[in-house]
Amino acid sequence: MLKERLRCEKLKKKLTTAKEASMYIKDGMLVGTSGFTAAGYPKAVPLALAERSKNGEDLEISIITGASVGDELDGALSRAKIIKKRYPYQTNKDSRDCINDGTMEYCDMHLSHTSQWIKYNFFGDIDIALVEAVAITEEGGIIPSTSVGNTNVLIEKAKKVIVEINTSQPLELEGIHDIYTTENPPNRKPIPIVKANDIIGTNFIPCDIEKIVAIVETDISDKTREVSEIDGVSKKISNNLISFLENEVKGLNKRLLPLQSGVGSVANAVLGGLVKSNFENITLYSEVLQDSVLDLIDSGKVDFASATAITISPKRLKDFYENIEKYKEKIILRPQEISNNPEVIRRLGVISLNTAMEVDIYGNVNSTNVLGSGMINGIGGSGDYTRNAYLSIFTTVSIAKNGDISSIVPMVSHHDHTEHDVNVIVTEQGVADLRGLCPRDRAKVIIENCAHPDYKEKLLDYYTKALKGGKYKHTPHNLSKALSWHERYIKTGSMK
Ligand code: COA
Repeated sequence: MLKERLRCEKLKKKLTTAKEASMYIKDGMLVGTSGFTAAGYPKAVPLALAERSKNGEDLEISIITGASVGDELDGALSRAKIIKKRYPYQTNKDSRDCINDGTMEYCDMHLSHTSQWIKYNFFGDIDIALVEAVAITEEGGIIPSTSVGNTNVLIEKAKKVIVEINTSQPLELEGIHDIYTTENPPNRKPIPIVKANDIIGTNFIPCDIEKIVAIVETDISDKTREVSEIDGVSKKISNNLISFLENEVKGLNKRLLPLQSGVGSVANAVLGGLVKSNFENITLYSEVLQDSVLDLIDSGKVDFASATAITISPKRLKDFYENIEKYKEKIILRPQEISNNPEVIRRLGVISLNTAMEVDIYGNVNSTNVLGSGMINGIGGSGDYTRNAYLSIFTTVSIAKNGDISSIVPMVSHHDHTEHDVNVIVTEQGVADLRGLCPRDRAKVIIENCAHPDYKEKLLDYYTKALKGGKYKHTPHNLSKALSWHERYIKTGSMK
């Protein structure tokens, strides 16, 4: 089995155990790993690191990944208290707890920025690149697995490289990747992608074989998450969004510009809804492909999907692997510098679909911090797409925590996406199309179309009093009351 995967003769002597390979990672190091969502991240060596800490070794490292990763990396190392600093995104409960209790430093970044920061050494020198691969070619090229993320740049910049060859990942993934790395300014060239399915690079990551210090064979599979059942509220959001899009493309032969879709159950429901829609020849220029993309390919609705990771739920994974040749024809995985690249997103005219946690009456969006300071996940790629999209759309349920929280608030308690970047808000109540509206009109349409009935009057009351009482009428606010809803929730457990 390993023979067809480890094809470089010179590297065969580097095969070792996860424990031995982990010894290259020392206290205080900066380690860059593969992985984007619970896809294509290293597993065996991180578990060996956690074991070393359990055995009493003092070990603290900083970690740069592509984005969130699975439990063997973020979970195990957070529980072992090994992670000093974490970049650029996470979704792990144990990491989140460490971030919010102040024991882990977290730098939450736009995902398209990370590769450039690595190249410019903004994070410092990368000591080790620890990456998962399905194979290593005769010349030492690394074939990534279910994600690309920042792996190409980490391999280029790291002093040493450790590779986990994962035999649970099908070798047929070879050929699904398109690796293209940009140069630094002033030598950077235009990225030659004009269609989502343009192939512009190689199907392997070039690697100086002298840098590879250890190769570990493993068969631990990606710990992807089950997608939750599509509930009634998600279905309503999905229906509202699809009706809006259908109206938008009237007369355009049912064709949409390329779609980007965020992560989570609402995002999955929205894409799933497209299976029954009238759209044809859909393309995706996105970041992560979830189960619904396979459904769209099966239904013949999707012509092509470009992303940096494919994260298929355990229930659907067997089917994906068994039909990989079919899906491979319609999917490309690129480095996140390219999948999330503002230049390409703007050129292709991407329609971005992301999820908000709260939205204020003027269209500012908070996607990350509960009550202004409790980190949930991070901004991820949502800003990369939103800021540069042809049409930027945010979905959210209108209430959270059984109705004790309104997702539409007078003023967001944390800003991720400003009113200047947010075009459309969709909740299960309806759609607010904010294009071309001044702040006062935005407030009216957001409250009227998107707020939950339990909060509509209260929001209107805030707006009307701010308009009447305040000196400035452009974006009416009463600063002493703007965050009073959040304060009320903290004090009484409800915004009502
Ligand atoms: N105020 C306080 N808490 C809120 C809230 C609000 N307005 N809205 C939601 N929450 C809470 C939920 O109750 C839940 O808490 P719990 O885990 O204690 O139950 C948590 O926030 C997550 O909410 P949920 O409805 O389960 O979220 P989701 O799975 O639909 O994800 C985001 C929503 C915003 C957290 C998620 O989409 C995200 O992380 N986005 C930012 C990154 C991103 O967009 N990536 C994709 C780019 S390509």
